[in-house]
Amino acid sequence: DKGAYPYYMLKEIDEQPAVMRRIQGKYLDNNEPKFDAKLIKQLTDATKLYIVGAGTSYHAGLVGKKLFEKLAKTPTEVVVASEFAYDDPIIEDGAMFIFLSQSGETADSRQVLVRATNEWKVPTLTITNVDNSTLAREADNAVTLEAGPEIAVASTKAYTAQIAVEVLLATAVGRIKDITAAKEIDLNEQFSQTANAMQVVVDEKDQIQKIAEDNLAKTRNAFYIGRGLDYNVALEASLKLKEISYIQAEGFAAGELKHGTIALIEKGTPVIGIITQAATADNTRSNLQEVLSRGANVINIVREGLAKDGDQIIIPSVDEIMMPLVSVVVGQLMAYYATLLRGYNVDQPRNLAKSVTVE
Ligand code: M6R
Repeated sequence: DKGAYPYYMLKEIDEQPAVMRRIQGKYLDNNEPKFDAKLIKQLTDATKLYIVGAGTSYHAGLVGKKLFEKLAKTPTEVVVASEFAYDDPIIEDGAMFIFLSQSGETADSRQVLVRATNEWKVPTLTITNVDNSTLAREADNAVTLEAGPEIAVASTKAYTAQIAVEVLLATAVGRIKDITAAKEIDLNEQFSQTANAMQVVVDEKDQIQKIAEDNLAKTRNAFYIGRGLDYNVALEASLKLKEISYIQAEGFAAGELKHGTIALIEKGTPVIGIITQAATADNTRSNLQEVLSRGANVINIVREGLAKDGDQIIIPSVDEIMMPLVSVVVGQLMAYYATLLRGYNVDQPRNLAKSVTVE
């Protein structure tokens, strides 16, 4: 039931702070991640992780790679399910496969699971929002997202829940492996701060609506740019925008613009920069400057602490590795309002189904 909300998508965006708290309540005990012991042993023993997903779940996997490499120091590869299903990969001894799927029914991901089980004979884990789904049943391990039913075709709270669970799993492994970053992160504190930061963003919807009105009402195309985790979020924010507003939106690695993409910039092209990582903030700012001088309408999303005069959307700071959980909410709302403005059905975009059970 969407209650007083005009669309499920807006309800699901608003629920994200509560989902963070639910995940914190279920998977954290005394500031320690709490998962099945056999699962954590398999993940810790793995010398290589593969994360498999499609669409938004693939994008959550891109963030997951950085989390597992930083917090657990486990080399991780992220693969698009529909491609990997028919590739001839060289699967190392010691590999483990993680499947990210909101629905747990995505045929492309299942096809990889079948090969992982029968051909490569590796341990598998499905992280899903639907307890008894096909991928949950067929994998060796299953972890549920606790996001609650997601009805809108555009995935929002499942993406942030996937990242939250990845943070906890990576920390669990990293602590066993004695990795400093995993030992130092105060999970309770970070989850509380993240929930609060998301709340600040959803409470500032009006500002995002106004920016969408000024920049996305008529445009044919739009770009999101960022580096590192911000690039990962740029991909997700642009998928959201194209999927429901039908604006031709693309996410680019900010540093790649000058290697070709910048040719697309015309007077008035909206370019949204995401800046939440200190190490790359200045570089992304110069890339925004380059598109500005070619006539783009630049909008930036900057975390507090890195913000400067003239920045448009300032979002609260949490640990940098958790910033995707906050910055993506801006992208979700931007897509939502752009779609309203353009008069389309937010929850049921044309040509799309909630779960894609054919390859
Ligand atoms: O249920 P899944 O997470 O496996 O679905 C994967 C994609 O089909 C899904 O994320 C899709 O990209 C969304 N509609 C994006 O909002």
